[in-house]
Amino acid sequence: MPLKQFDIPEASHLIEGAWIRGHAPIQVTNPSDGALLTNIARGTADDVDAAVAAAQKSRDGDWGRMTALERGRILTRLGILVLNHREALAKLEAMDVGKPLTQARADVVALARYMEFYGGAADKITGETIPYLDGYTVYTLREPHGVTGHIIPWNYPMQIIGRSVGAALAMGNACVLKPAEDACLTAMAFAALAMQAGLPAGALNVVTGLGAEAGAALAAHPGVQHMSFTGSVRTGEAIQAAAARNVIPVTLELGGKSPQLVFDDADLNRALPFLVNAGIQNAGQTCSASSRILVHRGVYDEVRDRMAAAYRDLKVGPAMDDLNLGPLISPRQKEIVEGFLARGADLTIVARGEIVTDAPGHYVPPTLFADVPRDHVLARDEIFGPVQVIIPFDDEAEALRIANGTDYGLVASIWTRDGGRQMRLAKALRSGQVFINNYGAGGGVELPFGGVGKSGHGREKGFEALYGFSTLKTVAAWHG
Ligand code: NAI
Ligand code: MG
Repeated sequence: MPLKQFDIPEASHLIEGAWIRGHAPIQVTNPSDGALLTNIARGTADDVDAAVAAAQKSRDGDWGRMTALERGRILTRLGILVLNHREALAKLEAMDVGKPLTQARADVVALARYMEFYGGAADKITGETIPYLDGYTVYTLREPHGVTGHIIPWNYPMQIIGRSVGAALAMGNACVLKPAEDACLTAMAFAALAMQAGLPAGALNVVTGLGAEAGAALAAHPGVQHMSFTGSVRTGEAIQAAAARNVIPVTLELGGKSPQLVFDDADLNRALPFLVNAGIQNAGQTCSASSRILVHRGVYDEVRDRMAAAYRDLKVGPAMDDLNLGPLISPRQKEIVEGFLARGADLTIVARGEIVTDAPGHYVPPTLFADVPRDHVLARDEIFGPVQVIIPFDDEAEALRIANGTDYGLVASIWTRDGGRQMRLAKALRSGQVFINNYGAGGGVELPFGGVGKSGHGREKGFEALYGFSTLKTVAAWHG
């Protein structure tokens, strides 16, 4: 029972600081080999009610009265605790998500960094004074929403908890977290560490279970004042519809079809590892994955051949073997990705990586397509697997048209030495983040992140998240 080391009993929710046994357990299996890991509780609407009530109580009590300085200290302590448990958390994530150990370790470090960042930021969010009529003093107060709901996916549980729960707690909200049924072990371990760090009971509650049950109950709960969601477009629409009925704000991060634009003056030695890694990291199950590589015809053959060579070296196997790629999260995800590969049967595959295990995991070889027409389904839809397409372009205008030609807009990168082109494209790209001669900026806890179009709205990470997880009150005092 892998959660024993964190003193978490099987199949339980964290409500008001105590692990409460839940109903009808769901089996958790290891995607690398199918082995049974543990059971989690299948949360009900009643469990969500209890969690929201506990959060509200802590807002009205200890947590709500705590100074920003004290909140920040708890988060900072939590960051250190996370680092102290780095290896245990990384192994737990590797087993639960199927993520190669090195990538799981990086997620632990990012989670700790979020706690440090938001711990330090907690007491640095201020209001302003506003010049107004004679005899008045006007100022603004940044206040927490109250109870915030967090529904997170299975691909980067630790990073997404860090950026959403971390920022919400820093602002003084009390959180109810519904992790994904496919991967919630590190969410539970994180909550146990939060208790150890001194977070008051009820400030963070965790209800596990299915999206259509516990998730939907949380999204629709009238006691929740803000919803933060990362996941599919379809579920994001349902979350926003539920939020509309309660008239509460939502932050939606719904993935993308993020392009990298490679021009003929690019430093290809620098670009190459970014072009490939951004597609195959976490087996492509990354919201900000770069699944479209747009290449100027002047360097097209060279980029294609060098990417193909890199692909042929990629090894796929169990997370604990720490190769380039692990398995996909679930049989369903494998089916989705294989469905896309089948729809690419008319296209040119230039290279594949190699599955080097016989273990019964959900493995898919990383696959690189070239000369893909820009309106092909593989060039437009989010695949969420280790699949990249290379598309040629003739000039800057065409590159921009292709880049902006999907429903999404999360991340884009520009590879060129031409400063004017860098500035023009950075402005013209329809995207929440633009990277120039890099991609992903190493995690970027400090960098506001979120999408346009079907990639969602609202911003997480950086200071910007703290504004999203708070509301502004204007106080106008007449004193004559
Ligand atoms: P999903 O969006 O359904 O699941 C994400 C989270 O939402 C999970 O915690 C789930 O329990 C919850 N959820 C599901 N239905 C819900 C509902 N009706 N109300 C409230 N919460 C609900 O994504 P899923 O099914 O795991 O993956 C399907 C596809 O979604 C993937 O193939 C991928 O394309 C996309 N996806 C995108 C992610 C991103 O990072 N942007 C993350 C995960 C999936
Ligand atoms: Mg799992």
